[in-house]
Amino acid sequence: MFDIQKFHSHRKGDFGKRFIYFDEIDSTNRAASDLARSGVAEGTVVLADSQTQGRGRNTHTWYSPGGVNLYFTVVLIPPVERLHYLPYVAGLSIARALDPWEFDSDLKWPNDILINGKKAGGVLIQTSLEENRLQFALVGIGINVNTRDFPDELRPIAISLAQALGKELEREKFLADLLFELEQLYGRITGMSWEEVKNLVGRRSSMLHDCPVQIEHQGEIKMGITAGLDSMGGLIVQTPAGTEIFYAGEIVSCRKK
Ligand code: BTN
Repeated sequence: MFDIQKFHSHRKGDFGKRFIYFDEIDSTNRAASDLARSGVAEGTVVLADSQTQGRGRNTHTWYSPGGVNLYFTVVLIPPVERLHYLPYVAGLSIARALDPWEFDSDLKWPNDILINGKKAGGVLIQTSLEENRLQFALVGIGINVNTRDFPDELRPIAISLAQALGKELEREKFLADLLFELEQLYGRITGMSWEEVKNLVGRRSSMLHDCPVQIEHQGEIKMGITAGLDSMGGLIVQTPAGTEIFYAGEIVSCRKK
């Protein structure tokens, strides 16, 4: 069971002050969406110990067993012209929260957290727009914290922090640290230039530049060389047919010499 008191004892900022907990839910993004529609405060965190229909990017599901990992959603209302910062701010906050352990970690575009080349965490951002006005954004984060074994299909591609470290981590403390990093970076979302964000991401991602990639987008695989992020957060890829910019999709391989 997730220990809410313990979490609050570690909490350093305002994110998570309003904390909504479920032992089990279909998806914290789904629950947070209902709550946000009814008008909860910015920085509200919805967390579940387990999810029955955890959602991933690109219609994937998210493996969400109970008692071991973190599945939560933060309700935010960023300025609409800064919306493209959000996936990167979220990815960076996870990477920063992991810094004390000096994992061999990498940000895989747009915001997967890889450790030893395998996925340890992911971010699903969903937004609600009405008449071109942003009502709210949901930052859904899943971190494989203490899972000891994954189902067969995930074993080759997924890793938990405990597997990488050889010992379990306290979920409550890690969540408090992660939310603090998110709050700090989010607090700079208006003041930070896009150049700054790109630099911060570039320092933590081996794939943003000069990486020969295969990208899956709408059922098609495209090949090319990565050339950084464009001004709206899209991944620039030089393909044999010319420059393409991806705002969605998935890097399925990146092979650097
Ligand atoms: C990805 O595919 O990499 C994104 C995974 C995001 C999973 C998290 S778990 C908490 C939140 N609720 C969901 O249903 N999904 C996100």
